[in-house]
Amino acid sequence: MRLGDCHNFHDFRRMAQRRLPGPIFNYIDGAADDEVTYRRNTASFERCDLVPNVLRGVANVDLSVAVMGQKLALPVYCSPTALQRLFHYQGERAVAAAAGRFGTLFGVSSLGTTSLEEARRLGNGAPQCYQFYFHKDRGLNRAMLDRAKAAGVEVMLLTVDCSTGGNRERDKRTGFSIPFRLTLGGMLQFALKPVWGIRYLTHERFTLPQLDAHVDMGGGALSIGQYFTDMLDPALNWGDVADMVKSWGGPFCLKGIMSVDDARRAADIGCSGVVLSNHGGRQLDGSRSAFDQLAEIVDAVGDRIDVMMDGGVQRGTHVLKALSLGAKAVGLGRYYLFALAAAGQAGVERALELMRLELERDMRLMGCTSIGQLSRANLRFHP
Ligand SMILES: Cc1cc2nc3c(=O)[nH]c(=O)nc-3n(C[C@H](O)[C@H](O)[C@H](O)COP(=O)(O)O)c2cc1C
Repeated sequence: MRLGDCHNFHDFRRMAQRRLPGPIFNYIDGAADDEVTYRRNTASFERCDLVPNVLRGVANVDLSVAVMGQKLALPVYCSPTALQRLFHYQGERAVAAAAGRFGTLFGVSSLGTTSLEEARRLGNGAPQCYQFYFHKDRGLNRAMLDRAKAAGVEVMLLTVDCSTGGNRERDKRTGFSIPFRLTLGGMLQFALKPVWGIRYLTHERFTLPQLDAHVDMGGGALSIGQYFTDMLDPALNWGDVADMVKSWGGPFCLKGIMSVDDARRAADIGCSGVVLSNHGGRQLDGSRSAFDQLAEIVDAVGDRIDVMMDGGVQRGTHVLKALSLGAKAVGLGRYYLFALAAAGQAGVERALELMRLELERDMRLMGCTSIGQLSRANLRFHP
């Protein structure tokens, strides 16, 4: 299977599955408990129909949007995800460079395997967000905030749906952790993918540059669930976040908001945006899909702050449905991660190019030439 054979999300996923050792593929592909929310995230879009208009002169389509004061050439952005150099040796470098070429926002994770400064240099001037996890160690939090500010990061994005680790049963079965503490079955799955192993061993050592100076990851294996539970501060509350918003002093966004009450509080404490998200179904299984919850949140706070969403987005039409409901931009997760795992930067660029073409085509078919023309008038929901 070659990159040119990939025409959609499912093709990239299949190619990633062929290239990655099972435990790594399952870390990306998996979600919490019974993975109900994970499945629902995409299924939600299918309960909503588009009603197009025609004969409106759609020769020139403008896909750009403005969100949290940032101008993006596309209404989609690369949502921050952890450990990207495990998926492909180019890791965050590939994603930063690809997003930069498409003029859109990318986010570096606290658990990123490339430094936020390097990712920024590769981003071709595209706006960058830094995805913050709030640690028990307040000194670490202060240092991370200062570092992101010094680097010129435009948007601070605090993920708030990880007060404890989600129950990722696929990772338990394989023994996925950093460094690897694989079960026998997990080890055998690595042995089946020698090309990945050779690349992994012949490229620079795996590190977490955002955390290395503060957290000793060498002392023992740390599963991602354990990282959330042991390192992150479950006592984090609205007062702490209000202090953080003040000390950041620029666009500040909360990722992982789902309730109207919380969206209102985010606006009250001076956030510029919220991302409706259930973390790709990886935290609270049974949580509602962001798309189903979107209208409620836009109606409650859309006139005060920018509302974004992520989860389950695989198609240009999914994006158009979310934008029609009032989202200002839409985050991609596994959509670009599988492409990264399949073919590095070339893979992410192909995935973003396919998305750009789909969006342009779908806008024309909807009879729209700018994102602002999308509205709820063009949507109908199944009972
Ligand atoms: C492998 C993987 C790692 C992730 N790591 C992070 C992370 O470090 N920080 C974060 O805020 N969200 C993280 N997420 C969640 C994504 O930012 C995003 O919310 C989610 O993937 C969207 O769902 P989708 O994958 O269905 O598009 C991760 C998701 C995946 C699949």
